[in-house]
Amino acid sequence: MNQRSVLTMNYLSVDEIMSILNDAMSFSSSHQDWQLSKPRLIANLFFEPSTRTHYSFVSAEHQLGCKVVDFIAESSSTQKGESLYDTVKTFETIGYEALIIRHTENSYFDQLENISVPILNAGDGCENHPSQCLLDLLTIYQEFNTFENIKLLIVGDIKHSRVAHSNVETMKRLGGEVRLSGPEFLVDDKDLYMPIDEAVEWADAVMMLRIQHERHEDTLMMSKEEYLANYGLTKERAARMKDHAIIMHPAPINRDVEIDSDLVECKQSRIFEQMKNGVYIRKAMLKRAFDEKF
Ligand code: NCD
Repeated sequence: MNQRSVLTMNYLSVDEIMSILNDAMSFSSSHQDWQLSKPRLIANLFFEPSTRTHYSFVSAEHQLGCKVVDFIAESSSTQKGESLYDTVKTFETIGYEALIIRHTENSYFDQLENISVPILNAGDGCENHPSQCLLDLLTIYQEFNTFENIKLLIVGDIKHSRVAHSNVETMKRLGGEVRLSGPEFLVDDKDLYMPIDEAVEWADAVMMLRIQHERHEDTLMMSKEEYLANYGLTKERAARMKDHAIIMHPAPINRDVEIDSDLVECKQSRIFEQMKNGVYIRKAMLKRAFDEKF
């Protein structure tokens, strides 16, 4: 495995996380037009649907002057039974210099130990989503200038969320506090559970998640209206948040299910900031993958 790969947040020390955030902030201001020293050839291998992660990686790659190819799983030899390892090894062999991979399988990258080009994990099953975590961290940092004692509340289908798992672990490492809320059977770390009505008043940042139906069989026996009333961010709950507190969501959003549609673009929402930050973060990750300096 290339040491510049980022497969889980544990591949990055706290110093490296801060250096990626600083680079991302430079991309948002002084280094907007900075490009890699060579036009690197990059392949995006998405074995699962994606809008923001996929196309913000593409945007970051183009802005850095890379040559970019999107792998289409449906029309590839994976349909003929080829393994993930053989597919990825092929991309390395035919000249791709970095690979962005999203796959439904937890820790799919364990099979890719022998690959020597950098791999950036764009999400594996229910476990890790490092680029999303970094863009979430950037959004929190821009707001509060620190992670020390920042109270992050994550609400929804925690159990199946790689976004939640990466954020819980990393926010704790950075000195923040995390609580989880939502339907109790979907909260896997019971020690962190806090009922939503108490939690919205506690938090500095409220991160809402959708129910990831495609990742499990559990059905919620309730209507959208009931879900919003029981576990969602309603206007009434948002009004009880601290004045400085922000609303986050990795998206895709199911409007009026986990969050009242009117809150998506309200003053406290940073949801579209997160998306913008996603491009800066992915540029910073690619800069690090090729070990380049400004
Ligand atoms: C998330 C994901 O794919 O895990 N989306 C994203 O990358 N922005 C969250 C989700 O699917 O709900």
